[in-house]
Amino acid sequence: MGAAVEPLDPTAVASVVRYGLAADSLVRRATGDALVYSQLYPFDGLLNYTSAIIHHVRLQGLEPGTEYFYQCGDPAIPAAMSDIHAFRTMPAVGPRSYPGKIAIVGDLGLTYNTTSTVEHMVSNQPDLVLLLGDVSYANLYLTNGTGTDCYSCSFANSTPIHETYQPRWDYWGRYMEPVTSRIPMMVVEGNHEIEEQIDNKTFASYSSRFSFPSTESGSFSPFYYSFDAGGIHFIMLAAYADYSKSGKQYKWLEKDLAKVDRSVTPWVIAGWHAPWYSTFKAHYREAECMRVAMEELLYSYAVDVVFTGHVHAYERSNRVFNYTLDPCGPVHISVGDGGNREKMATSYADEPGRCPDPLSTPDPFMGGGFCGFNFTSGPAAGSFCWDRQPDYSAYRESSFGHGILEVKNETHALWRWHRNQDLYGSVGDEIYIVREPDKCLIKSSRNRIAYY
Ligand SMILES: [Fe+2]
Repeated sequence: MGAAVEPLDPTAVASVVRYGLAADSLVRRATGDALVYSQLYPFDGLLNYTSAIIHHVRLQGLEPGTEYFYQCGDPAIPAAMSDIHAFRTMPAVGPRSYPGKIAIVGDLGLTYNTTSTVEHMVSNQPDLVLLLGDVSYANLYLTNGTGTDCYSCSFANSTPIHETYQPRWDYWGRYMEPVTSRIPMMVVEGNHEIEEQIDNKTFASYSSRFSFPSTESGSFSPFYYSFDAGGIHFIMLAAYADYSKSGKQYKWLEKDLAKVDRSVTPWVIAGWHAPWYSTFKAHYREAECMRVAMEELLYSYAVDVVFTGHVHAYERSNRVFNYTLDPCGPVHISVGDGGNREKMATSYADEPGRCPDPLSTPDPFMGGGFCGFNFTSGPAAGSFCWDRQPDYSAYRESSFGHGILEVKNETHALWRWHRNQDLYGSVGDEIYIVREPDKCLIKSSRNRIAYY
């Protein structure tokens, strides 16, 4: 990085993975693509950056529930080949096979708290990791060559674009390699991945460093997509792309939900960054326009659980729809407690004097619309906030941690939240999430099974 940077040539090195069923038998080979990305600023004083060469290789035709060993690099440069790693594929898609443990966390960052979260998470031996955005916080470090933590300093207002310290992404990748090299991981973007730069470019690092099943799920977008793991259909949504009913994402979501066969994947689990049902003061009802646009659609297909991050704390809701307790609504769980680079959220919007001004709550990166009207019914009717912990909020706590979801069968899933200050294996919050298809199930006019 520097004032003048020249990108590397991604064609200079091959993108090859050798893999097989044993470490001494890497008999299969796949090739992929390489790229570099740049983070450029049209202002004096902000340092530009071009990445190292980033390789993406897709392994196709893998058997489900199978351990594969692999090595990646360029075989023509033996010193450039990686160590041999191993990972296990997801179980076969079907109602009676599920990943053993799914670790779910948002706002991970790269701090002492992150280290504790990751160590606790690894001790739980997850089979799949879901990251719910705000990954490296590279945009909260100075670009003056020091990479100094810049949470408490103010960035110059002389430029309309916030500078970022992109090497932070490299540090994050190296730190996470022991996890990401052996445990499948899916990620969805948060606001700290926006990283505005020259020519109105955004999400350059996020889109370049991770891979998404965008083509496979028909979204053709790195920001929202779906995938199956055993009997679970996962839907990852974009809080920072158009979510309006007339937009591409919404239309894709309609199609994706309509295709789900609940006899094959009984569970539908959604994830995105900014929560709809957080009761903390920080980011309170910030995603209200997204909720107004999309909640009914998710509810009409009986999405079982929603995972989010963004608010730096832990909170689990009761089953809820449109702020009302509803046995067929999703459970909303916010796990933005990964480690971050900011402050822990500690105050609630329902505490005296804590309710924010509604006009201050919309996030300009979420479309800038205003949807945060006062409640019109229920115990908080006429107000923007409740005067006590809302009925839909089942448990909330300001501690760092992560969660583990274990889907047991078509109707029961065990959710456990682990806080960092506890010993490995200790449980801070625990509940069985129970699906009740008999209660919520009806036949739709299109002869597909639908839930209401
Ligand atoms: Fe966030």
